[in-house]
Amino acid sequence: MAAASKVLVIAGSAREGAFSVKLAKVAAAALAAAGAETTQLDLRALGLPIYDGDLEAAHGVPDGARTLRDALLAHDAMLLVTPEYNGFPTPLVINAFDWLSRLKPEGSAPAGLGASAGKPCALLSSSPGPLGGLRSLNLMRQFLGLTIGMLIVPQQFALVRAGEAFGPDGALLDAKAQQSVDGVAAALLRLSNALRKA
Ligand SMILES: Cc1cc2nc3c(=O)[nH]c(=O)nc-3n(C[C@H](O)[C@H](O)[C@H](O)COP(=O)(O)O)c2cc1C
Repeated sequence: MAAASKVLVIAGSAREGAFSVKLAKVAAAALAAAGAETTQLDLRALGLPIYDGDLEAAHGVPDGARTLRDALLAHDAMLLVTPEYNGFPTPLVINAFDWLSRLKPEGSAPAGLGASAGKPCALLSSSPGPLGGLRSLNLMRQFLGLTIGMLIVPQQFALVRAGEAFGPDGALLDAKAQQSVDGVAAALLRLSNALRKA
């Protein structure tokens, strides 16, 4: 039997009790149930400052960007759950990928964008509001697909009213929402497995 696809799962908020972290856990469970191996990456733990060209000129690219590059290289695919701030994905996510894009090839490691290029990616969003972060989801599709070079699967899901969406055990209360997450996970694995075979 072929080895399982390895999927890097990232939430776009590090806040204690973040809905995106809760939804990332649900997505990781759905991926695992579909046969994947998952790793959850905490973007806050990368310790990346807001991008600043003077800082880069003085100190180079921070090691947190290498951690993200190496995590991408070690996984076949990525699933990202984005919150929404004023209609946009959070600075925590954009900043991490901005720093990644500044990494040049180092030793046997490719440039940062070489680690993300062609990597299958699925997107979810969550928000306590009625749109579930849908606007940020579509912008994230553009950012990660067109600029960061990932292959974004068409299937996506925005979790609305996230404040009421989870039970005390962290499970989604709405079976249709769970089915949607399962569908996104399955689509990601289909693409990832097909590319690994190709
Ligand atoms: C600066 C800021 C802007 C926000 N803008 C939006 C928004 O445009 N749409 C939305 O649905 N929620 C918005 N919210 C509410 C967030 O969806 C909410 O804080 C959410 O819990 C953040 O995601 P998290 O739970 O994963 O940390 C905003 C929150 C902040 C702090």
